[in-house]
Amino acid sequence: MSMNDDIRSVLISREEIEKTVARIGAEISRDYAGKEPMMISVLKGAFIFMADLVRHVTVPCSVDFMSVSSYGKGTRTSGEVQIIKDLDTNIEGKHVIVVEDILDSGVTLSYLLELLHARRPASIALCALFDKPKRHKVELELAYKGIEVPDEFIVGYGLDYAEKYRNLPDVCVLKPEVYGK
Ligand code: IMP
Ligand code: MG
Repeated sequence: MSMNDDIRSVLISREEIEKTVARIGAEISRDYAGKEPMMISVLKGAFIFMADLVRHVTVPCSVDFMSVSSYGKGTRTSGEVQIIKDLDTNIEGKHVIVVEDILDSGVTLSYLLELLHARRPASIALCALFDKPKRHKVELELAYKGIEVPDEFIVGYGLDYAEKYRNLPDVCVLKPEVYGK
């Protein structure tokens, strides 16, 4: 039994992801010249993106991680998120870059932004590797945007379905029968 048996198709290849991550890293390096940004990533989906991205950033930077979960069940998006793991460091006066795997409805990210703003960083910029524009419910401005994807559920390169498939090197769409399991 292999994970590959569950894949319907590769939507974004590892080569395309690599090119995109390098491009975003160069943009950040250019924009933050002379500064020392603090890169904050939201676990778990963004862990691979974060690891690859920081290696394309040429200015000194620090990293920290946060883990949040949507509060409430099912499709009801209350806009409240629960902090499972908070940052280890104080962001006051820092130039923060929030590194996300995918911008979907934007509900989680907008709540997180509000929370981080209250801690008075010098600036906050949003970075997402994937963007599903059709699904946005909240208007958020992405300073750094990777690849637009259709309104389909994707897995791989950190993204999961039921905690699986994060380790796929390409971004894939699963066979429909997998979702019923
Ligand atoms: P939202 O923007 O608050 O709706 O939540 C976004 C989060 O949902 C992302 O950070 C992902 O963890 C997850 N997510 C959204 N779309 C997908 C997908 O296509 N595959 C896997 N996870 C997804
Ligand atoms: Mg996520």
